[in-house]
Amino acid sequence: MLEGLEPLALRPIPIAAPLHLVQKLAADYPFGTLTNRDDTSLTLQYGQAKLQLFLQPVDAGKTIMRGLLTPAPVDSVAALRHHNATMTALRDEIELAATRLDPPTAINVKFAPVAKGLARMPDIDNAGPKVELRAKVARKWQVAEQVMAFRLEALSGQFPTFQPGAHIDVNLPNGMSRQYSLTNGPGETDHYTIGVKRDIASRGGSTCLHDDVQEGDVLAISAPHNNFPLRRDAVKTILIAGGIGITPLLSMAKTLKAQELPFELHIFAQSKDDLAFPNILHNLGASTISHTGLTPQATCDVIAGVLANYTPAQHVYICGPGAMLEATRELATKAAWPDEAVHFEYFKNTHEIAFNTTFEIALSRSALTLQVPAGKTILQVLRDNGIEAPSSCEQGACGTCLMTVIEGEPDHQDVYLSTTERAANQKIIACVSRSKSNRLVLDM
Ligand code: FES
Repeated sequence: MLEGLEPLALRPIPIAAPLHLVQKLAADYPFGTLTNRDDTSLTLQYGQAKLQLFLQPVDAGKTIMRGLLTPAPVDSVAALRHHNATMTALRDEIELAATRLDPPTAINVKFAPVAKGLARMPDIDNAGPKVELRAKVARKWQVAEQVMAFRLEALSGQFPTFQPGAHIDVNLPNGMSRQYSLTNGPGETDHYTIGVKRDIASRGGSTCLHDDVQEGDVLAISAPHNNFPLRRDAVKTILIAGGIGITPLLSMAKTLKAQELPFELHIFAQSKDDLAFPNILHNLGASTISHTGLTPQATCDVIAGVLANYTPAQHVYICGPGAMLEATRELATKAAWPDEAVHFEYFKNTHEIAFNTTFEIALSRSALTLQVPAGKTILQVLRDNGIEAPSSCEQGACGTCLMTVIEGEPDHQDVYLSTTERAANQKIIACVSRSKSNRLVLDM
């Protein structure tokens, strides 16, 4: 950096290529004259300015390239555009070259206990969940048919605090990342407890936790995020859980009980053996009502009864399988519950998502306009252009990628937004939703 001169930070560009290839090709690229280099940075003379490129390896096949231009040019927007285009072209060239490299040696994915400090911790990235904590599996035990609980403890000190309804992203030994709700009560930050149901259609998430992860292993996890927050100003709170959907509601029920706020927890399961965390349910006392072995119609009848007689300042929280959630939301609407009193969290988005439209997005705060082609999501296009865009589930269920729409009509394909939020067209879930209008202006 030139002393006393303000630099301009260029947009970071993620490149799907190993560090050594990025180093080699970035040095050859006609940005300017190479004046210095070390293992992770290059310095080039670029006209009257100095351009420093910092290369940050994320893993064996991915590198982030960041740039600093010193001094910052007078027209910084034009410079940002120019360098964004140049670095994007460089990325494409490097990624093409990466496809010609020998494939990496096959990795044996069978998980072995990981020593303290060695759980994979991806560097800060502009894509995907931020995994930033290490946690030891202090206890793994069965809490219902096909449901295992995991007590995760911090390697030192305490975990970050959280609010009821929060979840963490767990980086699994097989390379996948999955979200699990915390079941903890208020003030429990010396450990997190999650419940994981073995999913017969599992793509490797629940199976890996059930079969491979053992007590003593170390996992990389994110700090808690909360897209399903609990309001404390309700005159009465109704919690409705289907199966493993009990997990975030346990945290809510423990909090409401500790604060002596009125609540009812209704849990629906196939049988008594499917009721997860029975000890906690027992300790919650008479406010907890279990319903087992009901047909779908009988389940709806019970829920209709629970939701009858809405009075202002009641709130209902629902978590469970998609069909049960949809039915419960409909019953709430029929019983005159306003949208803002009905809170829900889906496990996943089971709707078929259409990615076949094309449109443009304009980013109001950075004067950038980008094309979203068929087959790519808004999130992918943002990241392709080096723009930070957090996400978690990437299927329209968790709300982490929520963005504000200033202009245009979103084509909502998520299960996160409420009916009122959809109709207002002021929010969009960027990992799945698209645009009905040719152009969307986003507040970013
Ligand atoms: Fe979960 Fe988009 S990342 S809704």
